[in-house]
Amino acid sequence: MTERQTTQSVQPGDALNTTFVLLEKSLATTKTGNDYLTLKLADKDGTLDGKLWDDAAVIDAQLHVQTPVQVEGAVSIYREKKQVTIHRIVQLEWSDELFALLLPESQFSKEHLQSRFKMLLRSLEDPQISALASEIFALPGVAETYFMAPAAKMMHHAYLRGLAEHTLSIMEICDNLVEHYNAQFPGLINRDVLLLGALLHDIGKIIEYTYQAGIDLTRRGRLVGHLVLGTEILNRAIQNVPGFPQDTADQLRHLIASHHGEFEKGASVLPLTPEAVLLHHVDYLDSEMNSVGKLLEDAGDSEWSEFSRKFGRRLLNTKVPSSEATPEPVAGQPTETPEPEEEASKRPEKDEPEEPDDGEMMEAYDEELDGSGDEEGFVHEGELPEPEPEPEPEPEPEPEPEPEPEPEPEPEPEPEPEPEPEPEPEPEPEPEPEPEPEPEPEPKKPRMPTLF
Ligand SMILES: [Fe+2]
Ligand SMILES: [Fe+2]
Repeated sequence: MTERQTTQSVQPGDALNTTFVLLEKSLATTKTGNDYLTLKLADKDGTLDGKLWDDAAVIDAQLHVQTPVQVEGAVSIYREKKQVTIHRIVQLEWSDELFALLLPESQFSKEHLQSRFKMLLRSLEDPQISALASEIFALPGVAETYFMAPAAKMMHHAYLRGLAEHTLSIMEICDNLVEHYNAQFPGLINRDVLLLGALLHDIGKIIEYTYQAGIDLTRRGRLVGHLVLGTEILNRAIQNVPGFPQDTADQLRHLIASHHGEFEKGASVLPLTPEAVLLHHVDYLDSEMNSVGKLLEDAGDSEWSEFSRKFGRRLLNTKVPSSEATPEPVAGQPTETPEPEEEASKRPEKDEPEEPDDGEMMEAYDEELDGSGDEEGFVHEGELPEPEPEPEPEPEPEPEPEPEPEPEPEPEPEPEPEPEPEPEPEPEPEPEPEPEPEPEPEPKKPRMPTLF
């Protein structure tokens, strides 16, 4: 039996005949007036770009995104990337077999994630918070769904068990930061409230997303959103813990309501407690780093990632050696215009850039959010000497988005025989940046929540 062809295993020159999920499609017209389709195909290993030139408009009308397709075609390289020229594509129906074969999933097994959750929840000290954790997972359907749900459709952790992976990551980071900040400001952060809030912050996603036919938003998810859905789950669980303190309940609701950090990002209130401020930033960090990791994972052996709409730029794959020749000093020729020692000693260490103040930090954060970041000032501040008109070669200019071959990071005008459409606009109108999974409660109430 031949091995299944995947997005990663196919090579230029291969004849392709396999199943993928049709992730995106876009119909466009060449300068000569011919319709063609640009498609993004996916399986659990990654994505593959496709082009279809014949009967494009007719076939476009037969295809639906987020569904499996049988694809026949020929693999080639276009702009240093694999691309399949599609000769035949047929829409398929979802089946359990295709579901398991095609949908991406967390690298962590359900059992692995559950055991890490158990460890954290067993460390909760407040008996009522511990009991609440148990009651959350005792709610019908919660435990079963929590360890399957994705954290998002496209933005980050967009794969099965992504919610649990994201939530667990946040809980563990928070756990480390509690000790760090409470050492500086004793009693600043209530660990139990923060950890349970972290567990709950995206729990509404178990209702917001469906993964039964590809990852997508549900009707309730679109109408209500995971902040409100998560609060409803919390409220139901609290009813099963007699005497649960009102204020603690409100602090947990606040953590859910504020974790997106800004009204523009969907928060219904801004973070007002130390736990809420911390959770928001850790949530943002975890979603960003997951996206960075996936982007560079997809880059493979390429020096630069694909252009990311989320980041508004390509990222450098530092695991790959630089393709640029490093200027070497001429042998025997002393470096010109050596700097006075004192001057050099004033120059900030490269690894220890001057600490930006709060205002600068927030500015950089804001720019990051809206994708309009000016990377220069923030990144290189510490490396440049004062504006002396020195003819020295600059250390390195830096955030020039593209090294060489690729000039602009964006829509790529195709110099091919057939004009190509711009990279399709993101079919994701949902501004969701984060997802989360959950732990499970165990039958032992006070100290040992019953999990899984
Ligand atoms: Fe999140
Ligand atoms: Fe969220």
